[in-house]
Amino acid sequence: MSSLFKNPVARRLLRPAADLVDQRVRKDIDKATRSEREAREAMRGELDGLRKELTELRGKQFASDLLFERAGSGNRTPTKQQYEVLVKQIAAVSGQDVKFARRNAMVAFRNVIALEALGLGRLAGSTSNVCGKLATVPLLDPPNGDVLEIGTLFGLFSAAFLRMLHRAGIEPRLTIVDPLAGSQLQPGTNFGSESTGTPVRLDVVRANLALGGTAGEQARVQQGFSDDEVVQEAVSDREYGVIIVDGDHSAEGVRKDLEWAEKIIAPRGIVVLDDYGDGAWKGVQEGADKHLAGETRFEMLGRVSTSAFLRARA
Ligand SMILES: C[S@@+](CC[C@H](N)C(=O)[O-])C[C@H]1O[C@@H](n2cnc3c(N)ncnc32)[C@H](O)[C@@H]1O
Repeated sequence: MSSLFKNPVARRLLRPAADLVDQRVRKDIDKATRSEREAREAMRGELDGLRKELTELRGKQFASDLLFERAGSGNRTPTKQQYEVLVKQIAAVSGQDVKFARRNAMVAFRNVIALEALGLGRLAGSTSNVCGKLATVPLLDPPNGDVLEIGTLFGLFSAAFLRMLHRAGIEPRLTIVDPLAGSQLQPGTNFGSESTGTPVRLDVVRANLALGGTAGEQARVQQGFSDDEVVQEAVSDREYGVIIVDGDHSAEGVRKDLEWAEKIIAPRGIVVLDDYGDGAWKGVQEGADKHLAGETRFEMLGRVSTSAFLRARA
C-alpha cells in the first residue's frame, strides 16, 4: 500500500473520491451483469423459439414423408437435379419448348402422387421414368386418342395417362392387354409377393381406371397374353395413336410386341418402349434393337429416363 493510503488524514480527505470511484465501478459491474443476464435471457428465448420451430418442421417433414413414400418401397422425391435432367430430356424428345416440358413434368408428378395416394397398388418404375412417359406423349401430338397398353399391372399408370392426354385436349379411348393373373408375370422372374400387398386382378384395375375419368370407366380390358392370336384378334380392330409396350420384358417378348405394333399403329402413331436401357431389364433394349435393325415403320425419337419413344412413319 502506498504511504499516502497509510496516512489517516489523507485517507479521510480522499474517501469521497474513493467512494465515487467505488460507486462508478459497482455501477459498471451492475450494468455488465444486467446486460449479460439480458443477453442470456434473449438467447434462451431464441433457442426456445428455434426448438419449437424444429419440432413443427419435423412434424411437417414426417407428414410429407408419408405422402411421398411409395407404397411398397422407396419414395417419390426426385432431386432438383434429376428433375431438371428429366425436363431437358422431355423437351429434346418431343421437340417442344422447355417451358411446356416443365409444365407437363410438374402435372405428371402431381398425378403420380395423387393416384398412388388414392389408388390400389402402385405405378411401376422410377419417378423420372413414369413422369417422363406421362409428360412426353401428349407433347408428341399423337394422331388419334386410341391407346393400347400392353401390360398394365394395376392400371394406375393408365389412369394417369388418360388424365394427361385429356388435359392436352385429346379424348382418349383405352384398350388394355394383360393376363391379370393375380401377380406380375415375367418370364424367368419370380416376383413372389407384391410389395404393396395388392393383387393384380381385374377388379383392382377397374377400380383404378375409374380414377382416369370417363375414359377410364369405358376402357376395354382384354385379359390374356399379347402374343396370343385370339387376344390380338379381339383388339386389332383399329389403328392406335399410342401403343405402350410394357408387358413381357424378355427380348423375344418385346420383339413380338413390336411386330404386332407394326400392324396396328396409326400413321405417325407413337410407341413407348418402357424400360429401354434399364439394366434390370436388358431384354427390352436387346429385343427392340434387333427389331429396329430390320425392316420397320418405326423411327427412334429418343429416350426419356428409361423409356424409348418411336414414331411410325406417315
Ligand atoms: C411392368 S408391369 C406393367 C406396369 C404398368 N404398365 C405401369 O406402368 O404401372 C408388366 C405387366 O405385364 C404383364 N405381362 C407379362 N407378360 C405379358 C404379356 N405377354 N402380355 C401382356 N401382359 C403381360 C405382367 O403380368 C404385368 O402385369
